Amino acid sequence: MILVTGGAGFIGSHLLEHLVREKKQACCAIDEFNDYYDPALKRENFAGLKRSVPMLEADIRDEKKVEKFIRTHRPETIVHLAARAGVRPSLEQPVLYESVNGGGTLVLLELARKFGVKRFVFASSSSVYGASKQVPFRETDPVMEQASPYGVTKRAGELYCSNYASLYGLPCIALRFFTVYGPRQRPDMAIHKFARLMLAGKPIPFYGDGLTRRDYTYIDDIIQGVAAACEWEGRFEIVNLGESRTIELRELVELMEKTLGRKAERQNFPEQPGDVPATWADISKAKRLLGYRPSVPVEAGLKRFAAWLLARRKTR
Ligand SMILES: NC(=O)c1ccc[n+]([C@@H]2O[C@H](COP(=O)([O-])OP(=O)(O)OC[C@H]3O[C@@H](n4cnc5c(N)ncnc54)[C@H](O)[C@@H]3O)[C@@H](O)[C@H]2O)c1
Repeated sequence: MILVTGGAGFIGSHLLEHLVREKKQACCAIDEFNDYYDPALKRENFAGLKRSVPMLEADIRDEKKVEKFIRTHRPETIVHLAARAGVRPSLEQPVLYESVNGGGTLVLLELARKFGVKRFVFASSSSVYGASKQVPFRETDPVMEQASPYGVTKRAGELYCSNYASLYGLPCIALRFFTVYGPRQRPDMAIHKFARLMLAGKPIPFYGDGLTRRDYTYIDDIIQGVAAACEWEGRFEIVNLGESRTIELRELVELMEKTLGRKAERQNFPEQPGDVPATWADISKAKRLLGYRPSVPVEAGLKRFAAWLLARRKTR
């Protein structure tokens, strides 16, 4: 049994579909369907999984409810994806971010220890690298400074995992995701937001000079890496999961114009606090440890994302 927290979210719902349909794996899930973005989208994400995946609709910080659920389903693996996931909003609500991402992770680690869970897979983030200019980012790089409270909470989660691995022998693997996109992407993320605005003929908010770089990872590639981590054995690891290619924001917009066949009107804003100049994953460790082989370049991934978005617009 695999427990996926945040199972109704963007990455969680794709992971559950993969595990249940492709791997025939028994799964259960926890999600509070909060309104960080429209909860109806999360219900939609989970609709096809409802019959096969028992879902606890609760806050991961509600220790009693989560304990009862874990006692009932006895997962061998916990994939912990539930979190407050936006970088910029973490500057507005740092206390909430710490409580959910730090405190919530501790609740799950405690229960994992108590119930002898065999493996804890933690969703970390490229944000832990902060504004580091030394690219590509390697897991061995020092990560002393993050650019946002969100990044700090993800680093804290990694440290709690490492602490539980060494104190209690709980096998933990922290996966540092690099900007994930694809069908059902969170609507607050750049690609999804830009595409919606471009299709509506509205200007897109363009922060800074367009030279910031991101390593964009297609959802199927991330799922391949997370699924491999569900079979990993060891004590403690931190692993980058990215595409290992980096493109500038202005290049991304050009690619989106080409893909959607629309010109983007830009509304310029200064660089946002919390944003970092570049992300770029060195994925040699993921290749070695998890057999990770990302295969969807951003040009192809954007086409798939656009096809999903356009089909969805027709049915709504
Ligand atoms: N999408 C990315 O590019 C990206 C990059 C790096 C890391 N991550 C991490 O991956 C994970 C999944 O991200 P996503 O993009 O799928 O986000 P998402 O917001 O779509 O999914 C997160 C889910 O967790 C649930 N949740 C949040 N707080 C909860 C709580 N207290 N109790 C129970 N459920 C709660 C939400 O309702 C949501 O359905 C997060 O931990 C995020 O920080 C994502």
